[in-house]
Amino acid sequence: MGHEQRVRDFYDYAGPAYEAIMDDIWHHGDPAAEARGLSPQQAARALAERLVGLAGLRPGDRALDFGSGVGGGTLHMAAFTGATFVGLTNNEWLSQRARRLAEERGMADRVQFLTVGDEDYTTLAAWPDMSFDAITFYESVCHLPRKERFFRSTHRLLKPGGALVGIDWLQRPFGAHQTPEEIAHFTDPVNETFCLAALGTLHAYEAMLEDAGYVVTLAEDLFPGIPCWGNTPSEDRPKWLGYDGPGGEQIQAGKQALDAARGAGVFTVGAFAAVRPAPAP
Ligand SMILES: C[S@@+](CC[C@H](N)C(=O)[O-])C[C@H]1O[C@@H](n2cnc3c(N)ncnc32)[C@H](O)[C@@H]1O
Repeated sequence: MGHEQRVRDFYDYAGPAYEAIMDDIWHHGDPAAEARGLSPQQAARALAERLVGLAGLRPGDRALDFGSGVGGGTLHMAAFTGATFVGLTNNEWLSQRARRLAEERGMADRVQFLTVGDEDYTTLAAWPDMSFDAITFYESVCHLPRKERFFRSTHRLLKPGGALVGIDWLQRPFGAHQTPEEIAHFTDPVNETFCLAALGTLHAYEAMLEDAGYVVTLAEDLFPGIPCWGNTPSEDRPKWLGYDGPGGEQIQAGKQALDAARGAGVFTVGAFAAVRPAPAP
C-alpha cells in the first residue's frame, strides 16, 4: 500500500479522535495569541486570519483549502473573508463531517468539501489553470511524499498575483540535537505515528516553493529559539493519553512521540506565504 493510501486509513481513526479532543480546528495557533490567554481554537483562528490577510482574500474571491479536516478552519476563513472556499481531503469521513458543519453554519452555498483521490495532489488536474485567488494549507503538506509536486500544481491553479499561504510541521536542529541522526531519533517516531511522509525544514520548503515558481514573502519559524509547545494545553494531556476510542494506542503513542520531539526542540511549526508573480506588463 502506498503512503498516501495509508494516510487515508490513518484518518479513519485519527479523524474521530482529533474531533473528540480538538473539536473542529486542529492546527497550531498564533503563539502571541496563545500567550495572551486565548484558547487553542481562538489562537488557530487568529493565525488563519493573519495568513488569509496576507493572501489579500476579499469577498467573492475563490480559494482552495488543501487538507481541510473536519472543516472548522475552512469555514472560519470563509466567514472571515467573505470568499468562496473548496476544502479538499482524501478521506470521505472527514469531508462528510465538514459538509455537515457547513450546513449547520448556513454556509454550504459558499463552502464545499470534496474528497479527492490519494495522489490527485500531484497534478490537481480537476481544475483549470488560474482557478483560484488563494490556496491555503494547514498542517496537511507534511503528509505528502511528493511535496514539490503539490507546490507545482498549486502554482498552476493560482491566478497571477494570487498567493499560497499556510503552516506546517517542520524539523530543525536544536540544542544538543544537531546531526540528522540525533534529530531523527525524535522525528522518526512522529512520522511513524502520525503517518507523515517526512518532516521538512523551513529552508527546504522555501526552496521547493521557489523551484515551483513562487516568490516567497513569508517563511517563518513560529517558535524561533524555543521549544514548540503551541496547541498543547495541559488540561488536554489526559484526553490524549487516555484516549481509548478506535486506534487509541496509536493516538497515545503519537502524543508521546510528538511531546518528546517538542521537548527536544527539534519539532516546530512554520508559516509560509508565497505569491505567483504576475507577468510584467
Ligand atoms: C491534520 S489534518 C489538517 C486539518 C485542517 N487543516 C485543520 O487544521 O483542522 C490533515 C489533512 O490533510 C489531508 N490530506 C493528507 N494527505 C492528503 C492527500 N494525499 N490528498 C488530499 N488530502 C490529504 C487529510 O485528509 C486531512 O484533511
